[in-house]
Amino acid sequence: MTPVAIAPLTGRSSPPFDLQRVRADFPILARRIRGKPLVYLDNAATSQKPQCVIDAITRFYTDENANIHRGVHYLSERATVAYDAVREDVARFINAPSSRQVIFTKGTTEGINLVAQSYGRPQLKPGDDIVITAMEHHSNIVPWQLLCEQTGASLKAAPINDRGELDLGAMEKLLTDRTRLIALVHLSNALGTINPVKTVVALAHERGIPVLIDGAQAAPHLQVDVQDLDCDFYVFSGHKVFGPTGIGVLYGREALLERMPPYQGGGDMIATVSLQRSTWAPLPSKFEAGTPMIAQVAGLGAALKYVDAVGLVRIGAWERELLAYGTERISEIDGIRIIGTAEDKASVLGFVMDDVHPHDIGTILDNDGIAIRAGHHCAQPVMERFGVPATARASFAFYNTLEEVDALLAGLGTVKKMFA
Ligand SMILES: Cc1ncc(COP(=O)(O)O)c(C=O)c1O
Repeated sequence: MTPVAIAPLTGRSSPPFDLQRVRADFPILARRIRGKPLVYLDNAATSQKPQCVIDAITRFYTDENANIHRGVHYLSERATVAYDAVREDVARFINAPSSRQVIFTKGTTEGINLVAQSYGRPQLKPGDDIVITAMEHHSNIVPWQLLCEQTGASLKAAPINDRGELDLGAMEKLLTDRTRLIALVHLSNALGTINPVKTVVALAHERGIPVLIDGAQAAPHLQVDVQDLDCDFYVFSGHKVFGPTGIGVLYGREALLERMPPYQGGGDMIATVSLQRSTWAPLPSKFEAGTPMIAQVAGLGAALKYVDAVGLVRIGAWERELLAYGTERISEIDGIRIIGTAEDKASVLGFVMDDVHPHDIGTILDNDGIAIRAGHHCAQPVMERFGVPATARASFAFYNTLEEVDALLAGLGTVKKMFA
């Protein structure tokens, strides 16, 4: 892995690390798109990959490929050791008490579905409820709706205010002695809002309610400490944290994971199998049926090491600069409304422009090599709350530059002129 040059954490408008060296670690950032330098501002959808992640995957298939937990031969043993070592890396990354509490999934979505089906389904009854918020990604809505259909429980959503902040008081009023779980997003992909998840966990635990946190957007931008949060479940995706697609993490409180039945059946998740009945392997294998995402885990391990080397505190500091600068500059443009103005916010700049559909904004920017996202961002209830069909969204990562924000602003100037 390329060593990352670290500068002291001081100074406005200059990153606390060597930005050009960091950018050089991400080969795709050197690409030209339609003849222009790529300006990649779609990091909330998926982040780009440093060379060390690409190398880890290539190395695995070139030199190390074998199935894990099954062979006595050299490659299988090496692959097993490497796979299990990444679980330790993940545990350290989120400060989990034990790597047994780290389950590899295919992503945030699968982690939430696992909890819904394995934690929720055996115990929910008509009259019970699950509480979410009005700013959730569809992945943290639909699995609960399916669960409610299966069990007769109901789903309630805590409202958000005009800035896109959670109404904690209203959420508290929704909690009853029949609330079986709160599931909420840590950092909203549509609004950028950082939720006061630690406060929510405390409120919930006073009432004996467990909390699942959707950390898909938080993991790449904020330091996550599941013990400090005291949450019961935490989920995130590898591809948003500079790792590969097809890999994610579910962290769970050990006592809950122990009680939960397996989510899927198959190889590797059993202790014994007979034709009459089977018994389950201990954690975490109980939740990892079949051949897992071995190469992706290797890539995730490299990604987390890379993020650690840059440092999430430094990453957060620079991304705050990018967001503040982008917010300030975009506010100077007449006819633009920012959607999501929470006081505690990170990385996401969503907006609408008078008389221009967000898809047109996205298409025109794309002509200049600028990648943003336009649409409902898998958060249709958020769009409904703000009375818009869609937004345009620029989302930053630590490898973005102020010049790229300037390019976005110049592109928006072009959009305005075209629609004047
Ligand atoms: C807040 C949030 N939750 C969940 C997801 C789903 O993640 P994945 O598609 O990687 O499972 C996303 C993806 O954009 C997200 O932003």
